[in-house]
Amino acid sequence: MAINIRPMTREDKLSIMQVLRNTPEFKPSELVVAEEVIDSYLGDPCRSGYHILVGELNSVVAGYICFGPTPLTDATWDIYWMAVAPDKQGQGIGSALLKSAEENIREVEGRLAIIETSSISAYEKARHFHIRHGYETVARVPDFYAPGDDKLILRRQLRSYQEKKEAKHRG
Ligand SMILES: CC(C)(COP(=O)(O)OP(=O)(O)OC[C@H]1O[C@@H](n2cnc3c(N)ncnc32)[C@H](O)[C@@H]1OP(=O)(O)O)[C@@H](O)C(=O)NCCC(=O)NCCS
Repeated sequence: MAINIRPMTREDKLSIMQVLRNTPEFKPSELVVAEEVIDSYLGDPCRSGYHILVGELNSVVAGYICFGPTPLTDATWDIYWMAVAPDKQGQGIGSALLKSAEENIREVEGRLAIIETSSISAYEKARHFHIRHGYETVARVPDFYAPGDDKLILRRQLRSYQEKKEAKHRG
């Protein structure tokens, strides 16, 4: 079993859209937004504000992660979307994607990674996944997405502010 992580290209779009359509956690309206974000990235990867990595399992695209710097913050990054094909989950692809995204963020002196997610039970597996990877739930907005569906904000510190200043100084 060989996992490979690399930046997304145009040729990956169909496979990623298929992964998203096969992911029961995502509603059709969310797929529309996910596709807009992918198109924005493919249109201009450098200026879109999005970074997208794909995860391949034995050379077949099996998942992706989308992240980007949070506007108007000092080195905070949002992890916007991630998904692994349901039949390929539990084999380490999600972990490899998240680790690569965090490494990319650290390389450009990113300090914090933020994930916003829903409190409903469908996302429980994803929440546990993130908590196992060092994220902590730091805020909850009750009834944000819908009555009874709260927004949870998860946070992971990737660099201390001091480390960031030192890295900037060295660079
Ligand atoms: C969250 C998600 C990206 C994780 O991807 P993944 O490739 O399954 O991740 P990994 O294989 O690296 O780790 C999955 C963990 O769940 C466990 N697991 C076991 N069986 C599993 C299964 N059938 N499906 C998923 N995870 C399983 C694994 O053992 C692993 O736990 P561990 O790290 O303690 O060993 C994936 O579950 C997913 O796409 N979920 C639906 C979309 C979603 O909720 N996205 C996040 C919000 S945008």
